[in-house]
Amino acid sequence: MNSGKPTPRRSCPKADTQPQSVSANHRSPSKKGVPSKAWTGRLTEPTHELVERFTSSLPFDRQLFEYDILGSLAHCQALEKAKILTRAERRALVRGLERVRDELRENRFPFADSDEDIHMAVERRLTELVGPVGGKLHTGRSRNDQVTLDLRLYLRDHLQTLESRIQDLQRAFLGQAREHLNVIIPGYTHLQRAQPVSLAHHFLAYVEMLERDNARVRDTLKRVNVMPLGSGALAGNNYPIDRAFIAKLLEFPALTRNSLDGVSDRDYVAETLGVLAIIMMHLSRLSEELVLWASSEFSFVDLPDGFCTGSSMLPQKKNPDVPELVRGKTGRVYGHLLSIMTTLKGLPLSYNRDLQEDKEPLFDAMGTVLESLVVYAELIRRLRIRRDVLSAAAGSGVLLATELADYLVNKGVPFREAHGIVGQLVRYCIERRMEWHNLSLADLRAASPRFSKDALRFLTIEGAVDRKAQTGGTSRKQVTRQMNAWEARLAKKLKT
Ligand code: ARG
Repeated sequence: MNSGKPTPRRSCPKADTQPQSVSANHRSPSKKGVPSKAWTGRLTEPTHELVERFTSSLPFDRQLFEYDILGSLAHCQALEKAKILTRAERRALVRGLERVRDELRENRFPFADSDEDIHMAVERRLTELVGPVGGKLHTGRSRNDQVTLDLRLYLRDHLQTLESRIQDLQRAFLGQAREHLNVIIPGYTHLQRAQPVSLAHHFLAYVEMLERDNARVRDTLKRVNVMPLGSGALAGNNYPIDRAFIAKLLEFPALTRNSLDGVSDRDYVAETLGVLAIIMMHLSRLSEELVLWASSEFSFVDLPDGFCTGSSMLPQKKNPDVPELVRGKTGRVYGHLLSIMTTLKGLPLSYNRDLQEDKEPLFDAMGTVLESLVVYAELIRRLRIRRDVLSAAAGSGVLLATELADYLVNKGVPFREAHGIVGQLVRYCIERRMEWHNLSLADLRAASPRFSKDALRFLTIEGAVDRKAQTGGTSRKQVTRQMNAWEARLAKKLKT
């Protein structure tokens, strides 16, 4: 099975979703009492080791390395175009960056304690490899515009992966719908049996939810896909750096228009987390339903054994761990949304270090949702439907009570009156512990003389389902129309 990691796209393969511990191959070049960085500026003391650890974002932002290097490669070209780098210098930097990238990809990059984040680590190592020309890379750029560029590149990739995983889950539901058009189940409101519906109709409800999720993903992508480099630390930069050229190289259709906003905007992170939270909300509702349906009390479905666990003590147990965990992880993703909203609410313009707190919630939520989608697509494909139990459930009880009221309406009885007559019949059955379908014509006529022979024929679950024939209704004709439309829509999306 695939992991939650998205598949690589174009020239930008993905770093591990869970970064390895940075200390795994740590090597500190700093000497006691000597500032460990070349760029300490006005500072006279080296960063205290406690502060080095406290402020470091490397353990989580190293997964941005592919995007960081991609951004730097484009920046090098723009620096050459602006005549800040000679051709030879640009070539040396590009070769150096490619070597750094290989080291990172192959897990042999020598991290230093003094590396505050992935941006500093790459630049330090680049300079070690190519010499003083490495110091030219950061011309006209700040980590403030660099980090938001990286994050936008990361999101552009991951939102596209998200979109295709959502579609895959939609396809899994559609497959189950195709198989179970003629399986009629009790539809519920208030978790009380209400009216019969086709099981295909039930599955297609999830396809609809996921479609709205995907529309939100695509919409978010529009605001993510804007190029911030050139904003500098906050005010822009002093060089003739062609921002449109960088945007073209990195395939961004638009540029940020205000440098203050460019470095401090994290709306797109909040928005993504909102979108992810809603996806999890949908998956959590599905989870709740699967836990119920797989219970002995319902027994509507069998979850695949490979997706359940036994109990260490109770040999009869088959626990629905996957749905339970998806439901549980939903809380975590909601927490991440609240976390970014709270981080952002107190920040004056423009960049503040608080913004470093945007990454962990985002990465964790993205990984969780991507993985949940993969696991659910597999689980839904393998879900076994207990047709016998479902048809018994749909055939018993008073699922057809509304049908009978509608029968009376067809005979000219006002709906409210019909509702009252059928209510009496329901009470009559309950008092006599009698099944609804055992009502005789005499029983019906005792409740209303408007009932005649054809009333009993009206009372079939298939009839009840197929009479809901408007757009959106559960009639098998309508559901088939919807399934065909989804098939065409999802096939088209596969090609793009
Ligand atoms: N690690 C920082 C972050 O994630 C990068 C930007 C740091 N900028 C600064 N001026 N200290 O936000």
